[in-house]
Amino acid sequence: MNAKVNISNRAGASFPVRRMNFDFDQVPEYWMSGSAGLTHFMTALSALFPDGEKLFIDSVRAVRHHPAIKDNEALQKEISAFIGQEAMHTQEHVGFNQSAQKYGHDVTTLEKRTAKLIQLTRKNFAKVVKPFGMTQEMVDLTATTALEHFTATIASELLRNPHIQELMTDDTMSYMWFWHAVEENEHKAVAYDVYEEIFGRGIKAYALRNTALVVAMVLIFLAQSSFVLRLLKQDGKLNLKELGMIYKYGYSPSKGIIAGMVGEMLAYLKPGFHPNDLDTVQLLKDWKAKLGL
Ligand SMILES: [Fe+2]
Ligand SMILES: [Fe+2]
Repeated sequence: MNAKVNISNRAGASFPVRRMNFDFDQVPEYWMSGSAGLTHFMTALSALFPDGEKLFIDSVRAVRHHPAIKDNEALQKEISAFIGQEAMHTQEHVGFNQSAQKYGHDVTTLEKRTAKLIQLTRKNFAKVVKPFGMTQEMVDLTATTALEHFTATIASELLRNPHIQELMTDDTMSYMWFWHAVEENEHKAVAYDVYEEIFGRGIKAYALRNTALVVAMVLIFLAQSSFVLRLLKQDGKLNLKELGMIYKYGYSPSKGIIAGMVGEMLAYLKPGFHPNDLDTVQLLKDWKAKLGL
């Protein structure tokens, strides 16, 4: 495994920021068990991260001095650590995405498309809800809260799904994804807590966060699927065998990582939901021990 870990907890939050430094030079082209379909499936997800996580950071940073939370010392510390973790994720996914480029997999274009999609969606959504007194900052925070539920859920499923884990045969890549998955669950409540402190727990806040989740899931599904198809086509590997692998380990009820997420994704829609209702304490303990984090 080519990674250096440097753990610091200067923020005094409930979770640390780990400085990572992965070396992706030796990662094979099809690092998911030799399968082009599965590798591109993960690469398409990775293409969403740099600009997605930038949105998470910017949106929380933009509201951290809101009167409802500016004097909440504990939450401010969580926000600082949240920003630190997400910044590190961005850095490492950018590194991996660039390394995939050397095999001719054009992830740079996919990153640019992600950036465009995010900007277009957040600006148009803000226009639609402006008459209801919502600002761009509010729209961004709502989106982040919904997307953080998605990342925490896909991450916990990755940490639980042995079928996917077996396929992650490259040490560097598996360590990167498991590290990211652990941290997504460590900080899964931060954006949600900020959201609730600012918006409250009323019907308007409830309707808003659910609408954001539905919109975000549709867009992620369309973007990620189109990215996978583009990567496969460019690679001359758009065929039934590779699509079958993606179905089997992505969407099939018996093994699929996405299929395994459905229950926890829907939990978000419950009134009174909180991310910590989905208990990942033991799961994280086990994985942190396994990864030496
Ligand atoms: Fe992240
Ligand atoms: Fe996150």
